[in-house]
Amino acid sequence: MADPFYLTTAINYPNGRPHIGHAYEAIAADVIARFQRMQGRAVRFQTGTDEHGLKMARKAEEQGLVPRALADEMSSYFRAMDEALDISFDRFIRTVEPEHHRASQALWTAMNAAGDLYLDRYEGWYSVRDEAYYDEGELVEGEGGAKLSPQGTPVEWTVEESWFFRLSKYQDRLIELLKTPGFLEPESRRNEMLAFVSGGLRDLSVSRTSFDWGVPVPDSDGHVMYVWVDALTNYLTGLGYPDDTEEWRKFWPASLHLVGKDIVRFHTVYWPAFLMSAGLPLPRQVFGHGFILNRGQKESKSLGNVTDPMALVERFGVDNLRYFLMREVAFGQDGSYSPEAIVNRCNAELANSFGNLVQRSLSMIAKNMDGTIERFETSEADDALLAQVANACRGELPRTFEALAFSQGIEAWMRAVYTCNQYVDEQAPWALRKTDPERMKAVLLTLFVAIRDLALAIRPVVPGKADAVLDMIGIASADRNYAALADTDWFVRLADAGHRIGPPAPVFPRLELPEAEDA
Ligand code: MSP
Repeated sequence: MADPFYLTTAINYPNGRPHIGHAYEAIAADVIARFQRMQGRAVRFQTGTDEHGLKMARKAEEQGLVPRALADEMSSYFRAMDEALDISFDRFIRTVEPEHHRASQALWTAMNAAGDLYLDRYEGWYSVRDEAYYDEGELVEGEGGAKLSPQGTPVEWTVEESWFFRLSKYQDRLIELLKTPGFLEPESRRNEMLAFVSGGLRDLSVSRTSFDWGVPVPDSDGHVMYVWVDALTNYLTGLGYPDDTEEWRKFWPASLHLVGKDIVRFHTVYWPAFLMSAGLPLPRQVFGHGFILNRGQKESKSLGNVTDPMALVERFGVDNLRYFLMREVAFGQDGSYSPEAIVNRCNAELANSFGNLVQRSLSMIAKNMDGTIERFETSEADDALLAQVANACRGELPRTFEALAFSQGIEAWMRAVYTCNQYVDEQAPWALRKTDPERMKAVLLTLFVAIRDLALAIRPVVPGKADAVLDMIGIASADRNYAALADTDWFVRLADAGHRIGPPAPVFPRLELPEAEDA
C-alpha cells in the first residue's frame, strides 16, 4: 500500500459564522482526501476550529458572553457547514479540548528544554484581527494616516511581559527548508517567504499576560500561549501527541497542510521552527491557496456582501458548488464567484454535457436493450473513444490532481465528456435501432463503459452525483476507486453475470437563475 497521507486544513476562527473562504478551503481539502483514498492511500483528514486568543475574547465580551459560550456556538456552525458540504474529515478538532491543552503544553515544554524560550518584555505592534505581531517597517498607511498591518487590519501598540521563542536561531535552517523543492507551493509564495526570512528574523513573542483566554504556559503564572502557538499544535494533537500512538507513528509528519495565502508565514516559518526546536519531523508540504472573492470583491460585513455557504448549498446543491469552485479557479490563484457564474458553469458542463450524456445513453440502454449489459464487439470508433476517455480518467485527471491542479484535471475530463457527446451524435444509435441493432448495442455499451470511467474519475469533486450515477449502473462500492480504471476485465465480469440496469433517474437537473439576477 502507498504511503499514509495526513492532510489538514487551517482551523477556523469561530468568532463569526463561516463564509465562502472557509467553504472553499474545506472543499479543496475534501477533494484531495477523497482523491487520495481513491488512489488507495490510508488518509487521515483533520479540520476544526481555533478558539483561543484576543480576537475571540473581545468578540465574546462584545456580545456579553464568556469566550467558551461563543466558541461552542460558533464552532457548531463550522461543523454544520462541513457536514452540508460533504466534508469527509476524520477528526474535527477544537482547541478548547483538554487533550489539545496537554499537547500544546508538551510542545512548549520541549521547546523550553531545547533552550529556545526566555522571558522578556514585548513592545510593539499587534493586530488582533490577524492575531499577529508586526514590525514598524511592515506597516502600511491607511486612511487619515492610520497605521495598518500589511493585511490592512488595525494594529495596536502592545507592551507586556512575554515569553520569547528564539526564532532567529533557525534562520539558516528555514532558508534551506524553504528552498527544498515542493515544501512550499505554489512557487510564487516561496519567493515571498524566502525574502521575509532572508531579511532577518526577530525572536517571536509567544505568550500573553493581558488576558487569560488561552492555553496556560506551564509553570508560568499569568501567561497564556500566543494563540498561534497553540493553534499550530492542533496538527499534532489530532494524532495523540505527545503519546506514542498508532496514529502518530503512522501519520506524522503531515503530508500536506492546506492553508490560505494569508497564513503561509505561520505555517512555513514559525511552525517548522517550533518543530525543529522540539526535535520533531517537519511537514512535507504546505500549499497556500488563493482567495475567493464575491464578484471580484472581498466579502465583508461593511460591504454587506457576505454569503452564507449554507445558503449556496441550498440554492445550487452541494455538488454543483463543489464543482464550480474546483473548476472555475486555478488552484493557488484568487478567483471570483457569482450566482450567474455558478449557474452557467454547472448548466453547461454538468447538466447539458455530462448529465445529458448519462441520461440519453442509459435511457436508450434501458429502452432499446432492455437494460441488458452483454459482451460486444467494438469498432475502431468505439476503441478510439474509450482510449480517449481512459486517457483523461486514468492519465490526465489523476496526474493533475496529484499536483493539486484541479481545474486542469477537470478540464481534461470535460474534454472527454464532449468527445463522448460528439460520438453519440455521429453514431446516432437511435437510427441504428432498425438498420443495425448489433451495432446499436456496441455503441450504447461503449457509452456505458465511458460513463463508468467518467463517473469514477470525477468522484472526488462531486461525490454525491458520481455515486448516484454509479448506483444507477450497478458499480459496487468496493470498485469505486482509481485502480478499478485499470481493471480490464470488469466489463466482461458484469456482462457474464447477467448484469442489467434500469431507466435512469435525473442526477444533473438544470439550475435556474432568479430573474432579478439575470442581468
Ligand atoms: N485560525 C487561523 C488559522 C490557524 S491554522 C493553525 C485562521 N483562521 S481564519 O478563520 O481566519 O481562516 C481560515 C482559513 O480560511 C485560512 O486558511 C484562510 O486563508 C482561509 N480564508 C479566509 N478567507 C478566505 C477567502 N476569502 N478565500 C479563501 N480562503 C480564505 O486564519
